This record gives sequence, C-alpha cells and structure tokens, in this order.
Amino acid sequence: MSKTIAIIGAGQMGSGIAQTFAQHGNSVLLADVSLDIAEKSVSGIDKSLGKLVGKGKLEVADAEGAVKRITPVGDYDRMGEADFIIEAATEKEEIKQAIFEKVGSMLAADAVMASNTSSIPITRMANYSPDPARFIGLHFFNPVPVMGLIEVIPGLATSEATTEKTTALAESLGKEVVLSQDEPGFVVNRILLPMINEAVFVLGQSTAEMEDIDKGCRLGLNHPMGPLQLADFVGLDTCLDILMVLYKTTRDSKYRPAPLLVKYVEAGWLGRKTGRGFYDYSGETPEPTR
Ligand code: 3HC
Repeated sequence: MSKTIAIIGAGQMGSGIAQTFAQHGNSVLLADVSLDIAEKSVSGIDKSLGKLVGKGKLEVADAEGAVKRITPVGDYDRMGEADFIIEAATEKEEIKQAIFEKVGSMLAADAVMASNTSSIPITRMANYSPDPARFIGLHFFNPVPVMGLIEVIPGLATSEATTEKTTALAESLGKEVVLSQDEPGFVVNRILLPMINEAVFVLGQSTAEMEDIDKGCRLGLNHPMGPLQLADFVGLDTCLDILMVLYKTTRDSKYRPAPLLVKYVEAGWLGRKTGRGFYDYSGETPEPTR
C-alpha cells in the first residue's frame, strides 16, 4: 500500500531516495532548509526521470506521475502527515540532532523516524527523537534508484515492530535488505571506507598514478568504479566524515584518514559535486588532478 514519506535533506541522497519512493507510487514530501533548494532537487529528479524516458526504460506518464507525487517543502509544517520520516541531511551529528528534535514534535502517533546516516550510531541518535522505539537506521546507496541494497539498522531501543515495518518498506522498493547491528559504519561502509582511504594513501605515497589505482581496482577486482572515482562520487567530505566517525568511535588507528584526503577536503575539492576532487570534472571527460 502506498505511503506518505517525508524526506529531510534534498541533496544527492535525499533526491535519489525521493525519486525511488515516488517511482514506487508513494507520496513524497521533500524538505530542505529553503523551498528553493527543495524545488531545485525536484527539477533534478524530473531530468533524471526524463533520461530514463529517453532511454525507453520508463513511460512518459509514469515519469510525470512520479514527479507529481513529490511535493517540495521549505519547512516542517506537514511532517505530521508522514508514515515515515527519513532524514538524509549532511553527515554531521549536530545537524541531524537539531532535525530530530524539531521534527520529532510533529511525528504522527504510529509513524517511524529513520536516519540515512552513513555511520553515526543509531542508538545515540534515537535519544534525539521523541520515541527511540520508533527510531531506526535506513541506509541507502548512491545512486539510489539503481543500487539494489538498503541496510536496516535497529538501535538498542528500536522495537521489533519498527524493524519489521521498515524492512517491509525497504523491500517495497524492490531492493534487498541487509540487517546490521548498530556498530560503527554498519556493514558496507565499515568495509568500503578503509578501502577508499587506503587508495588515498597509495596515491599519497606515489605508488602509482591516480588513473592506474582506479584501473587496478576496476579491472583487477571487477569494481564498476575505482576507489578514487568512487570517493569523488560519494563526496570527499562525506568520506572524511565517515572515517572520522569510525576513528573516533573505535579509537582504532586503522581508520585514521589519509592526510591527502584531509588536504583535498580543506581545499574544497569535494568530488563531483564541486566539479573537482581527485578528478577534474570541468571538461567532457574527468581528468586526474595529479
Ligand atoms: N536514476 C535512474 N537510473 C540511473 C541513475 C539515476 N539517478 N543513474 C544511473 N542510472 C542508470 C542508467 O540509466 C544506466 O542504466 P542502463 O545500464 O540500464 O542503461 C545505469 O544506471 C548505469 O548508468 P550509466 O550508463 O550512466 O553509467 P555507468 O555504467 O558508468 O554506471 C554507476 C554508473 C551505476 C554509478 C556505476 O558506476 C556504479 O555502480 N558505481 C558504483 C556505485 C557505488 O558503489 N555506490 C555506492 C557508494 S557508497 C554509498 O552510497 C554509501 C554512502 O553512505 C557513502
């Protein structure tokens, strides 16, 4: 049965999540700090659906229907209408905390509040919401409409009913679910981020050219993207934020961020979203920056 899903944060992840829910017949409230940002995100979704129509993978009417089901909003006034509220804001705990505290007061009586956090502990964030039993991690992968996995992460206080409802919601999108305990990085990022970080160390030590590091993993491991390309795709700031959560929560030095990753973030070279990360995206094809 179709539901009303509120998504808070209309960036790369939030818009992918919104598109996916809308394509599966759900009503979506897509919220950001201003209406303008939320509206721009809906235009981006419109374009993305247009590309699928162009490739003959989606009917025009289905694309139009999906866009119509998404309402951009610049405040939290309508959050009480949602069956699920999914936070997909920046990977900073203080930002997420402010959202959960504010939106929490509007959470409907049997609604669930979920976070798309990449690594921040669910058990801790549940305390920022009005009812930790109805708080859960729901971790999507980018690009959301394409990726087949969603991680479901119950916190210590999450009820069985919340986990079941959330798993059913994830499966209603045609995705596979991996259930993870609330441990730093959950399952996938715990494995992925050390790989990306190690690739940056390899680059920093000039062991190989940037393109060869990526080529090595694409052809040697059959990954669709090399780790440096993937870091640019995810966002170097997001990669650093996740590594810092892993490093601080485990106090294990194996998660210390590569100095070169820190430098790129400090330079504002955050990957595709800023037009430059390890690669430069200003031309027709991405060019290595070193
Ligand atoms: N909406 C719908 N479909 C999309 C899409 C979107 N936004 N973006 C891409 N696609 C579809 C395309 O239509 C295409 O379909 P087709 O092959 O049937 O024609 C298919 O995806 C592949 O797209 P492209 O041909 O444009 O490009 P590529 O073949 O180079 O694939 C990619 C792009 C799917 C991104 C692929 O490179 C890939 O899988 N990369 C790895 C992505 C990955 O690892 N993601 C996880 C990151 S970690 C994460 O998100 C967790 C977070 O917490 C950090």
